[in-house]
Amino acid sequence: MKSYGLNELREMFLRFFETKEHLRLPSFSLIPQDDASLLLINSGMAPMKPYFKGDKEPPRHRICTCQKCIRTGDIENIGKTARHGTYFEMLGNFSFGKYFKKEMCAWAYEFSTEVLKLEKDRIHVTVFTDDDEAAEIWEKVGVAPDHITRLGEDDNFWVAGPTGPCGPCSEMYYDQGPEVGCGRPDCAPGCDCDRFLEYWNLVFTQFDRQEDGSMVPLAHGNIDTGMGLERVAGIMQGVVSNFDTDILRGLVGVGERLSGKTYGVDEKVDLSLRIMADHSRAITFMVGDGILPSNEGRGYILRRLLRRAVRHGRLIGIEGPFLKEFLDAIVEEMG
Ligand code: SER
Repeated sequence: MKSYGLNELREMFLRFFETKEHLRLPSFSLIPQDDASLLLINSGMAPMKPYFKGDKEPPRHRICTCQKCIRTGDIENIGKTARHGTYFEMLGNFSFGKYFKKEMCAWAYEFSTEVLKLEKDRIHVTVFTDDDEAAEIWEKVGVAPDHITRLGEDDNFWVAGPTGPCGPCSEMYYDQGPEVGCGRPDCAPGCDCDRFLEYWNLVFTQFDRQEDGSMVPLAHGNIDTGMGLERVAGIMQGVVSNFDTDILRGLVGVGERLSGKTYGVDEKVDLSLRIMADHSRAITFMVGDGILPSNEGRGYILRRLLRRAVRHGRLIGIEGPFLKEFLDAIVEEMG
């Protein structure tokens, strides 16, 4: 398998879907437009809700993007696990009534095996409990029956927020090998350990969830997929932690340089280095989209991230203002 950088993988994904007649759009702002259910954009589909609901006409009925996302629900886990991040990019392709499960699963498999060239034996998928159709399609495109796991509502039904477009989903996993995980003989996709890494979520968006919890069927079946750019970079670069992928590892390096400490020696220092690497990207992209620190809403989230980043810098001995150093590195790599 060839190792690709984050910037190359982003381009490979978007190009692939352009060959499938998708319109490539730039990432939307992190600030949701006309959407009171979200403080910050948290997935590729979030800015496209009006297209899913049929409230607005999309510029094309097939779209692909790489969307800047912020999720802070798990902020206490950042740096402690291999995968959590407040800022990440989500690669996605979307169909507003143009294609559905059959095409989607075939393309997802094609991209995984022919473009990324992932080993077929290591690809696993999950489907929603009673989604026989998706299970059959996966088998047809080449996934071995014992690599298809059925999961229930908590895992394989995707909702963007309390209300809005949602539906059953099917996830693609990459088996990183028994040495990476919990070692239990029954370890399988859905296990909490790192062995089976979910890298792509394919949502079959069919309902509009109302405030009272009822599910109103949408006019037609839609597709919303999300592939974690950092996760797929981890797979391609043969590393288990997102913080060892090219761009994040570069930012960990900025922290090393500023503090004079070395990554991988002391777990406490590593935690601070990872938190600074993660938070500095979130801060940079939030400010870039016009968010400023304040006492409430989005501004408060930004303020909290700023304080945490600075505090972890102090904890490992960095003095004076230093976040600009991260910003320069981020602009250099991602500007
Ligand atoms: N909306 C789904 C997710 O965020 C797929 O894009 O996982």
